[in-house]
Amino acid sequence: MNPDYRHHVLTFPTPEALAEAAADRIVGRMLARRGPIAICLTGGSSPHPLYRLLGSDSYRQRIPWERVHWFIGDERFVPDTDPLHNMAAARRLLLDGRAPASHVHPIPTDLSNPDQAARIYESELQAFYGDNRLASSRPLFDVVLLGLGPDGHVASLFPRQPALEETTRWTVGVPEAAVSPFVPRVTLTLPALNSSAEMLFLVAGKEKRGILSRVLSGEDLPANRCRATGQTIWLVDQEAHPEDVIERE
Ligand code: 6PG
Repeated sequence: MNPDYRHHVLTFPTPEALAEAAADRIVGRMLARRGPIAICLTGGSSPHPLYRLLGSDSYRQRIPWERVHWFIGDERFVPDTDPLHNMAAARRLLLDGRAPASHVHPIPTDLSNPDQAARIYESELQAFYGDNRLASSRPLFDVVLLGLGPDGHVASLFPRQPALEETTRWTVGVPEAAVSPFVPRVTLTLPALNSSAEMLFLVAGKEKRGILSRVLSGEDLPANRCRATGQTIWLVDQEAHPEDVIERE
């Protein structure tokens, strides 16, 4: 990682204030765009306050639902009735009853194996994008949301695993997760995740302080391999914020 790289960190007093800032950025991106909008959601629990807020009256009416398409950065290879299913949580908290069904693009988990699901999802992404080669001048996503795993993973790209080194395919299967939940996964790869006008990391809670400090110090972790075509911004609450970080306005 470039030793001179400075993370763009924005710190907030509470997870609620962090979610509000993320919601404002996402809606701002949407309203600045004409035509179809692509949002790549993240799994895990960090985005839940944001999903609830986007689905609330104060934001729901501002979202151009007829133009927004919703994707997911990774999925646990479990039935969508399983509480571990990432897109099911996003549907429950945000999308159901608001997003047109054809605009919600879950990773299929009812197929025989994660790699088959990955290839189908890659075709869906390429059909939406209109090409099978990503151009830096035309990012795949308007916004990519990411959480930060305890080992510095993002999506289901775990340290020292082959998926992290993938440079051609947009999605791959992950037979074994390195952290809980220990179920097979399907994940977008770095080329796909980085093809975005804006990337927002959502990091809240004191249990994140240690791994966030390692990320911000420049350690070679999956989170530090993420760099959007456009802006990459770390939205961090006070609890997760390591004291020794110099912020950039
Ligand atoms: C997943 C997520 C994963 C998550 C981090 C942080 O499927 O588990 O996509 O990458 O974002 O593990 O999880 P929390 O937000 O729950 O801390």
